[in-house]
Order: sequence, then structure tokens, then C-alpha cells
Amino acid sequence: MHNWQIIISGFVVFFGILLYFYIDLEILKSYYNMATYSKKDYKKFIDSYSLYEKGITVDKNDYKNNVSHIYETNFEKNTNIINETYDILHDICTIIGLKKMYIPPEFDSNKSIQENQELHEKNIAKSLNVKPNSKILDVGCGCGRISNFISKETNSYVYGININKKHIEDAINFSKKEKNDKTFFKYGNLNEPIEFEDNFFDAIYVVQPLSYCNNLDNLFKEFRRVLKPNGKIVLSDYVLLDDFDKNNENHKKLLFSSKKIMEALNSRYYKYFEKSAEKNNFKTLYSDYFKKDDNTYTGSEINQLKGALNKCSSIYKTIKKMDVFNILKTYYDFFDNWELWSNDLIEASEKKLWYMSWKFVFQNKK
Ligand SMILES: C[S@@+](CC[C@H](N)C(=O)[O-])C[C@H]1O[C@@H](n2cnc3c(N)ncnc32)[C@H](O)[C@@H]1O
Repeated sequence: MHNWQIIISGFVVFFGILLYFYIDLEILKSYYNMATYSKKDYKKFIDSYSLYEKGITVDKNDYKNNVSHIYETNFEKNTNIINETYDILHDICTIIGLKKMYIPPEFDSNKSIQENQELHEKNIAKSLNVKPNSKILDVGCGCGRISNFISKETNSYVYGININKKHIEDAINFSKKEKNDKTFFKYGNLNEPIEFEDNFFDAIYVVQPLSYCNNLDNLFKEFRRVLKPNGKIVLSDYVLLDDFDKNNENHKKLLFSSKKIMEALNSRYYKYFEKSAEKNNFKTLYSDYFKKDDNTYTGSEINQLKGALNKCSSIYKTIKKMDVFNILKTYYDFFDNWELWSNDLIEASEKKLWYMSWKFVFQNKK
């Protein structure tokens, strides 16, 4: 490609994106990042997806038969691969408006996905039930957007840990921009001991990193160590439901592709979480779909998911149209695959085989 073609293409894309997103600098930065990642980075990103074909799958029958939920693996190697996914996925999520990298349950069908995320986080904050100026741990804190929200909502200190250095850097910058001096972020791996003193936290919450946990028993043991007596843990995460059968060929096929769109490693029947928590002296206070303030169930996450996917595909089409000199061509195969995988995820959600935001509340018994 000639230099003048690159320059014109750059201008077309730049001003197009500027108009499309009403000059959102974060989105522009991510678009720029995507256009400038090296072929090597992009290959690592694509190759990282083969990890999500692995992991342990333990369903309701396994639970009844006492099959272990522990995934024996080299967690350091997997940590590197997961970082290779999120290094670029983080930019894709930013472009589609999901800086908080998760799909929430539907609290209000008239509201946007971002507003539903806030309603979901308000619900978590309420269940944490902490006094002002408490210390709260956010495990797998992504880019710290949820930590900032929960910190303001509870008027408390939130400590976020994550394995991805780019996410941590982004989280620290965001807190500075927000002038929030009640959030702290550092590297932390949920498959390793948590680097905080005993009884440090008043509460813990987790939004969707638990498929990367190889041993739930060890994690809950660590939660118990760092959490004060009577402190609560609120989890909102991916679990297998009663109807999922890992020997059913269609379920297997749906799981194989859905795990890639969810970037999920391990899949576990929800009772495994309760059992691990209880083994570590926690009491299960809640294990169910999220409920709204009026005590009715939230709507399915499918509508939220469909909304996000529609947005993703319309942005993808726009980018394709504007990208006249194919600067982003490397990503097209990925987005085409995403559309295919997402159909399977929608089918599985409709069949209620698994759920991305199952809510658990556990309390540390004295
Ligand atoms: C689906 S996102 C969860 C959304 C996130 N809570 C947020 O605030 O946007 C998963 C997050 O878990 C992090 N993660 C993956 N493996 C992890 C591990 N072993 N320990 C801690 N964080 C991990 C990823 O880097 C990513 O930020």
C-alpha cells in the first residue's frame, strides 16, 4: 500500500470514528491500538482462544457423583495466555462500550446495557451491606470501573486485583481522572495466595472471573483468611444450571463455541461453589438468579447480550465500510467467528443451560 493511501485511509477512519462516537477519546485510543498491534500480538490473541476449548466441565451429575471440580493445570502458562486474550479484547470491548467487560442480567428492559450494569452493581453494593469507609476486595477487577462505582455507592475503600497489567494501569488512570482516592489496584492472581493480611477486608465481591479459578477450595480458603468474621462475599459469575448435560452432543457443541465468546475456561455446576464455600466455613445466604428491589427476578441476560452483539455487528459493519484500505482486515475473521459463536451462546441461554451472572451471597461464620 502507498503512503498516501495509508494517510487518506487514516483520515477517513479517524473522522468517521470521531463522528460515530461523538469524540470519545477512550474509544479512539482503542481503535488506534487495534490498528497498530503487531502481527505477532494479533496472532497471540487469536491463538489464545484455543485455551477456551480446554478447562474442566463438571455438571449436575458430576456433582452428585462427587467428581472433583479442580482443574489440574499449569496456571502460570494459562495466566500468560489469558493476558494475551485480554490485551486486545480490552480494546474491542472499549469500542463496543463495554469497558466493564461483562453482560449484566436485565434489571430494566428500557435501559441500556451500561445502565443495567449499574443497576446490577447497585444490587451487589446493597448485598455487601457495609458501613461507610469499609475495605472491600474486588477480585478480577478488569479496568477498575466496577471498583470505582462500588466505592462511590458504598462510600468505602475498594482494592482491585487482576492479572492484566494493562487493566491495572487503566484502572489507576481512571481513578485519578475521577479523583477517587478510595480505590487501589495491584497485580493479583486468584490462583495464588491473596497478598493481603488476615482479616483485612469487610467484604469481597467478584464479577465474572471465576471460570479462571482452578481450585475453588483454595480460593474460598483465601477469602476466609482475608475476610473479617461475619463479612460477606457477593459473587456474580458463570455457572452451569440443572439442565446442562455434558454427555449431550448438542450441549457439548454449544458449550464449545460459547466458551470462546465468554472467554470461559472452567465450567462448573453452581452447587460446587456453595459446597466449596461451606467447606471453608461460609454460610450460603443466597444462590439464585438476581432479583430486583421489588423481589421479582431480573429478566434474562439474553436481551442484554443480543443488544451488545447487535451493537458489535453494526460497529463491525461500519468499520468495514470505512476501512477502505483494509487496515483492520486482520480482525475480520475474528468478528465473523464471534457472530457464529454468539448464536450458540444465545441458543444455550434460551435453553437455560448456563448463566453468566448467577448470584451467590456467602457470609463468613464467626
Ligand atoms: C470477564 S472480565 C470480568 C469483568 C471485570 N470484573 C470488570 O470489572 O470488567 C475477567 C477479568 O478477570 C481477569 N482475570 C483472568 N484471570 C485472572 C486470574 N487468574 N486472577 C485475577 N484476575 C484474572 C481478566 O484479566 C479480566 O480483567
